[in-house]
This record gives sequence, structure tokens and C-alpha cells, in this order.
Amino acid sequence: MEAHYPFTLPPLPFAYDALLPELDERTMHFHHDKHFAAYVDNLNKLLETHPDYQSWSLEQLCQRWPELPEDIRQGVRNNAGGVYNHDLYFKTLAPTPATAPSDALAGAVARDFGDLSALKAAMKAAALGQFGSGWSWLVSDCDGRLSVQKTPNQDTPLPLCPLLCCDVWEHAYYLQYQNRRADYFESWWLLVDWPQVSQTYTGHLSCRPRCPQS
Ligand SMILES: [Fe+2]
Repeated sequence: MEAHYPFTLPPLPFAYDALLPELDERTMHFHHDKHFAAYVDNLNKLLETHPDYQSWSLEQLCQRWPELPEDIRQGVRNNAGGVYNHDLYFKTLAPTPATAPSDALAGAVARDFGDLSALKAAMKAAALGQFGSGWSWLVSDCDGRLSVQKTPNQDTPLPLCPLLCCDVWEHAYYLQYQNRRADYFESWWLLVDWPQVSQTYTGHLSCRPRCPQS
């Protein structure tokens, strides 16, 4: 993802049929080429006429949208979030067979959830508990403590560090799973790219300051 405007659509990091049978080719085409692409295009259109904000990073746009002019404020909130969230979503999917978290991430999961199945249960509860469209997240705070969150629409959990996200907008699963969000979640879980999630976690720990001491 580009650091700032103009943002470009990252290519799908695998073949469109690579996630079969869990996620089918048609879903991948619509989700990446139509929905993700629309968030990128819409964000660029909003910023095109507002050069003062073209140097803002995607993370700044996601977090500081309340400071923007009223005519682009809600649009940037929705579309910058859409770009940020989908970028992470597609980056953290990988063809089966499933892989495992690194020792560092596995240790943090054990400390903060008990085990990987407990983390899965927490993310599933967030995914199924999100009324309407939104996201289920695994996030890290600045000290590396993990938690699960859910956000509505295209809101992000920033400034917490997002490590992994499950898109529970119907466009992520309806073509294949119709209303069966729980079945989609189970399939999505099998596709999580744990080496990528682990790398994000390690990078986050090495470059962020520790949380302020209370
Ligand atoms: Fe989506």
C-alpha cells in the first residue's frame, strides 16, 4: 500500500482460485477487484480536490478523519478504513494447509487467551456478534498484549496495532455462504497466514514505543 495519496490497489497476493474450497474464485474477484478497488478509487476521488490532505498516510486518514473538512469527513472515514482493512484482510489470507504462529506470537496467545482455540472462539464471537457489517480483529497494544475487538462498517481499531481481521460484510461471503456467517468464519480461519500475522506482531514490537506507564 502506498504511503499516501494517490493510493493504488495492491494485487491479490495469490491466484483467484487459490483459496478453494474455503473461498471461491467468484468471491475473490468481486471482493478484491470490485469492493476493495472501489474503496481505493473513492478515497482518491475524495482527496483529489483536497491537496492539504494528500500527504497524510493511510493510518493518519483512518485516525484523524474528525479533523477533515465536513464535505469529505465521513467519506474518508469510510473509504480510508475500507482500504486499510481490506489491505490487511487479503495480506493475511493464504492457501491451505494452515500454518502456525511463531513462538513469540504463540506465547502471547497463550498468555492472553490460553490457547489458539480460545483465540479462535473470541474472534468468532466478535464476528458473529457484530450486528450488520463490520470486522472481527486480533490486535496488539504497544506492550504486545493481545485482545479481540469488533468494529462496525469500515472503522479500524487503530491506534492499536491490527494483526488479523475477519471481514464480516456480506460481500465477503454471501455469494458462497449466503447467510451462514459462522460457516464462512470457520473457513476463513483455515486460511489465516500465521507467518504473516507473526511478522506483523514482531515488527510492531520492534518499532513502537512501549505503553506509557500508569
Ligand atoms: Fe470486504
